[in-house]
This record gives sequence, C-alpha cells and structure tokens, in this order.
Amino acid sequence: MVHKIAVLTSGGDAPGMNAAIRAVTRAAVDVGWDVVGVRHGYAGLMAGEFVPFSIRSVGGIIQLGGTILGSARSLEFKTDEGRKKAIRNMSAAGIDGLVVIGGNGSQTGAYMLSQMGFPVNGVASTIDNDLVGSDITLGVDTALNIALEAIDRLKTTASSHTRAFLIEVMGRGCGYLALMAAIAGGAEAAVIPEIETTPEQVAEIIKKSYERGKAHAIIVVAEGAKYELNALMTYFKDKKDELGFELRGTELGHIQRGGAPGAFDRVLGTRLGAGAVEAMARGEYGVLTGLKGNELAWTPLAECVGKTKGISDKLFKLASIMA
Ligand code: F6P
Repeated sequence: MVHKIAVLTSGGDAPGMNAAIRAVTRAAVDVGWDVVGVRHGYAGLMAGEFVPFSIRSVGGIIQLGGTILGSARSLEFKTDEGRKKAIRNMSAAGIDGLVVIGGNGSQTGAYMLSQMGFPVNGVASTIDNDLVGSDITLGVDTALNIALEAIDRLKTTASSHTRAFLIEVMGRGCGYLALMAAIAGGAEAAVIPEIETTPEQVAEIIKKSYERGKAHAIIVVAEGAKYELNALMTYFKDKKDELGFELRGTELGHIQRGGAPGAFDRVLGTRLGAGAVEAMARGEYGVLTGLKGNELAWTPLAECVGKTKGISDKLFKLASIMA
C-alpha cells in the first residue's frame, strides 16, 4: 500500500496542470498520505529534486497557467539506467507511488516505470488531445479558446484587407485542435494530418471563397499536416495572383499553451488529479486517468501509449459543410 506519493509534470506544459497538482496533493493528504512535488519532470526525478508538499503548498495555484513544478523533456529517462536511477531516488526518499501529469511521451515513461514494478498512475494532460484513454485531455479546451480568439482577430484584419489567412495551430501528429478551431472559428477549411488536403485543393477553396464574394478566407492548418504552413506558403509563392485574395500566413505556436486555464480545464485537472489518487488508494496502478463521456475512466497505460487517437470523419465533413 502507498504511503508517500510523488507528483510531477512532464513534456509540454498544458493549462490546468496546476489544478491537477493541487488535486493530487489534496486528495492524497485526504487519504492520509505524505506528498512530494518533483521539480522539472523526469529530469528532476533522476536528480532527486523533491519538495515536501502540504495542503498549503498548493494554495492559490488553480488559476495559474504553466506548471509550478516546472516541466522538461528528458532523453536520459528513456534509458533503462535513467529509470533505475529515478526508482532508486524515490525509494531512498521513502516514496512508494507516483502520479505523472503529461501527454503521450510522458505516459510512455510512466508505463516503463510501472513495467519495472513501481506504482505509477497517469493524468492525461496535453493540448494535442492525441491520447488514447481520454475523450478530452487537460489543456485542450483552454488552448482551443486561445486559438479561437486569434482566429477571430485575424478574421477582422483579413476582412479589412480582403485577404486569405493560413493559420497554423499546434497538435503534433493530431488534427483535433485544428479541426475544432476551424469549426468554432467558421473557417473555410481545416488542413489536418489524418485526412490529406493537397495545396491544389486549398487553392481551390480559397478561389471559390473569393468568387462567392467573401471578404476573407480562413484556413486552419495543423502543424502535423503533410502540407503545413511552410509547405503551403512555399507552394503559393508564385501563385498568389491566382487566388483572388492576397495571402498571409500566421503561426500561433506556443501562445496556445500559455496563460490562465479556463473553467473547464480547472475542473478537469481537479477531477483527473483526484482520480489518479483515488485509483491508487484502491490499489489500482499502471493506469491513465482520463475522461470518457463525462465520467472518469482508468485505462491501462499499456493500451494508451505509442498510439494516436483518431479524428472523427463526421466532424471533418461537418467542418466542410459549414464552410
Ligand atoms: O505536445 C504539446 C506541444 O505543444 C505540441 O503541440 C507541439 O508540437 C510541441 O508540444 C512543441 O514542443 P516544445 O514546447 O518542446 O517546443
């Protein structure tokens, strides 16, 4: 049975991670466990960067963006020796359980640790929403709203100048953010990794929008698409006169990960963090805590890692009908 739990955030930060850290801490204290915060993700786990946490250590953080623990991507942790070092450090500090708040790569690390016999549970956290095991991951809703605000703003200036904009959003190999931003932002098209759209098709969509008398055309491009922003801008370099609209490109980048989490992510982080502890308290380890429907779901990490969640064809179709 676990008595002292450690919590870390790993990989790309996501709005709502602090809510999850707070929830892990308070839920663990509630069942009578000691809690330790690990600085800088797996790198900190290997370096023994442990900070004792009480209920008060996580006060006043639910509204903060980023992660108070810091995050990192660690190559050393991908080695067997690195993971053994992490387990040695935790054992020496009397830590007998770990909660990993992070995305795909981070949950692969959690899975490897659990395969070595260490009690670990994950919290599904990434703005990419690519994790199998959760319909929606922590940070997606806030990132989507940030992308949406940018799209609304770009639409205003696009209309003033009768321009088309290619707007690139994050998401790694997953088109979820781009597709949802396109639907919510009333875009003319979403270019995503899962369903190929050629530059010729993008050109056709922009031209048709111009011919229909629109004041602007907005194309949301996923960074992981075969033809992402750079590839499309290169293609259009000597074809600008054929589009009708003048063309501009904007990459939203890390702005999508910054700033305060919205209400949805604060609540989701709280539910998932407490859920990871709840599973541990009933002796369930090696699972990813996610949300399915509106209920918490615990899926074996073995079934989640190394995969990318698919995109709904119906939603893609809906986006093009609405355009
Ligand atoms: O996984 C989250 C994410 O923001 C991806 O959407 C993006 O491709 C990547 O992280 C960027 O990584 P970094 O913050 O290391 O530049």
